[in-house]
Amino acid sequence: MAPNPTKPRMLTGDRPTGRLHLGHYAGSLANRVKLQHQYDAFFIIADLHTLTTKPEREYIINIPTFIREIVLDYLAVGIDPQVSTIFVQSAIPETYQLNLIFEMLVSVTRLERLPSLKDMARDAHLDSMPFGLLGYPVLQAVDILLPRAQVVPVGKDNQAHVELAREMARRFNNLYGEVFPEPEALIGNVPTLVGTDGQSKMSKSLSNAIYLSDDAATVETKVKGMYTDPKRLRASDPGTVEGNPVFDYHEAFNPDKAEVDELKERYRAGKVGDVEVKAKLTKAINAMLDPFREKRAYYIAHPKFAQDVLAHGIRRMQAEARETMDFVRAATGLSYSLDLFADEIDLFGEYDG
Ligand code: TRP
Repeated sequence: MAPNPTKPRMLTGDRPTGRLHLGHYAGSLANRVKLQHQYDAFFIIADLHTLTTKPEREYIINIPTFIREIVLDYLAVGIDPQVSTIFVQSAIPETYQLNLIFEMLVSVTRLERLPSLKDMARDAHLDSMPFGLLGYPVLQAVDILLPRAQVVPVGKDNQAHVELAREMARRFNNLYGEVFPEPEALIGNVPTLVGTDGQSKMSKSLSNAIYLSDDAATVETKVKGMYTDPKRLRASDPGTVEGNPVFDYHEAFNPDKAEVDELKERYRAGKVGDVEVKAKLTKAINAMLDPFREKRAYYIAHPKFAQDVLAHGIRRMQAEARETMDFVRAATGLSYSLDLFADEIDLFGEYDG
């Protein structure tokens, strides 16, 4: 099997900032594994986007190890390199080229209205907005439109960025002629997974994450330490299931619905201890992660395979990007420099004062 270019094209991806966790799996990876069979799926590892908040060399030199982790996580959860295309953003030079052209097609005020950018600036403790961070969604529009993707599965937090990509496609097509499809966001309706500490969301920076690459003992330790109903002092106290992260995780990761319902009932009635509820959760999570661990170990033992997956993905995306930029240059008129070089324009011979 090979990627199927006749299917509608889909693109999504991640910034390489570390290993992926259960929140990523529930929120997007599980869905991507399904979608890859419906679409001609492209997965971008958006390393250039990380520069928008971390341009320092000391961060940049760590990017390759993060790329390795993400590729291993993708392959482990079942992104199938036989049908999907995984590539690294910075390996596609046309990204920089199209970005410059797109920068002309959007106003600063339009970008300043996006709340996501202010949030990112604040989270990164930046006291002023870098030009490049303001351009984050423009660069994202480039990612989406360079392979001329029609469908973009993202979380709610990225919906406004896909909307901007639609506007940029429309604006480009109006100015220069039909080159780009108007991409559609495919918004997942999975609630954000809370952290093991019960705080807002699972995240590396909050140290409340269970990683897809955690071993069974680590998962057990993390689940044992999970925040649960704080008002419950002993197993015979009636407990609260709603908003209890241990039960949120049971809902999300325990496929045995009858067991989950029975545990909830006993928990509410004060007839089960947290120890048992957590032991069953550990078992469910580890059962889900075991095949991922196996695949991860396989690819770690066969590094050439993972390397090839990336090399193939990059090569395919490079071909797509070159084709798109040919269209872009022809449509905009910017092909003149290449035409000049190829002797197709006689710029100086046509001199008439
Ligand atoms: N902005 C995405 C994030 O929140 C990452 C990303 C970069 C992306 N380029 C993309 C997502 C293109 C979807 C499509 O991390």
